[in-house]
Amino acid sequence: MPSSLLLLGLSLSFWLALRPLSRKRRSDAIPNYSERVLVIGASSGIGRAIAHIYAERGAKLCIVGRRGEELETVRVECEGLLKDAEPASSNRVVSIKADFSDADDMIRVRTVLEQEWGVLDTLVVSAGVSALQPLLHVAGVDGQTSDAGLPTVEGVRRTADIALAATKGNYLGPLVSAVTLVYVSPDALPFLYLIFLACPIIQQIPFMSKSPSPSIHLISSLAAVFPAPTRTLYTSTKAASLMLYRSLSIEHPNIAFSYLLPSTVEGDFRASAVDSGPTREADPNKHGLKRTAVAARAVRAIDNREGIVFMPQFYWLGHILGCLWPSFVERRARRKYNFPL
Ligand SMILES: NC(=O)c1ccc[n+]([C@@H]2O[C@H](COP(=O)([O-])OP(=O)(O)OC[C@H]3O[C@@H](n4cnc5c(N)ncnc54)[C@H](OP(=O)(O)O)[C@@H]3O)[C@@H](O)[C@H]2O)c1
Repeated sequence: MPSSLLLLGLSLSFWLALRPLSRKRRSDAIPNYSERVLVIGASSGIGRAIAHIYAERGAKLCIVGRRGEELETVRVECEGLLKDAEPASSNRVVSIKADFSDADDMIRVRTVLEQEWGVLDTLVVSAGVSALQPLLHVAGVDGQTSDAGLPTVEGVRRTADIALAATKGNYLGPLVSAVTLVYVSPDALPFLYLIFLACPIIQQIPFMSKSPSPSIHLISSLAAVFPAPTRTLYTSTKAASLMLYRSLSIEHPNIAFSYLLPSTVEGDFRASAVDSGPTREADPNKHGLKRTAVAARAVRAIDNREGIVFMPQFYWLGHILGCLWPSFVERRARRKYNFPL
């Protein structure tokens, strides 16, 4: 009984900690049709669905991804959705082919936005890569066939290379994007700020601090807080970016950071895995969350400045349970990924 009370008390405090401090809607500060939004990873999946929502709302939109053709398709889709938005407008969707882990590419994105808008209100980082194999399989040792024993030097190198690719897609990308786009206002030196206000050329420097309500949203994953077999590289790199942004949010309290942690989502995310190979879980397209629902939840989290959002919501309780009773959660993870119990 006392332990149940303790669990209840801990759960309540955790839930309270996750609630946003302020319930004021952003739309009071920025009307939907004048919001300037950059979606990184918009050429497919959740990012594409998020871009659609902002286009429908009539936002000024910039979409980024590496695949030019897919990106162009999404740009045309968004232009089509904008037609129904108020006020009617043209050239409101900019698409830029870029790798978000590449400093030159992201500076190029920033330069375009400086010229087009001068200010960025909302940054959505949806880009990411999957990794699906048990770590020692990546190294060429699976323990079941003749490939048992210790990995060769090539196996260890291959594992390190694949870990670098996962790090690039899930950690370095979010890092380079944030470093490139977060603007630090000169409030430590008030006289510099006066020069800043007085000088139109300097005012061309964006970015987020010039927005009436700057916001950064990271599409993270439940994998960032739940360990799982076959997901060593994915969970660790998603956890790294989540902690990066959460810590960054403390350094920049003027920016509203929010994070969506969805469970499995429908789509082709696993097809572009950095370690390619078979998946051990049930088909995401049969049991996964709908991309449109995930995108809508992300946008609601941004609008309401919600902080951390689990999807489905009850997973916040699972997170607490994982701290109190780790073996239970580990067993569930083994079952989900069809790993021997
Ligand atoms: N699918 C799931 O089950 C699931 C569950 C929880 C969380 N998530 C998270 O949701 C996010 C989106 O996944 P999704 O399901 O929408 O998968 P997706 O359809 O494969 O989308 C991934 C997007 O990221 C972009 N991207 C990847 N690397 C990039 C890079 N270096 N530079 C720029 N863009 C890059 C891809 O565009 P290009 O290839 O054109 O560059 C694509 O637009 C990821 O962060 C993922 O971790 C997914």
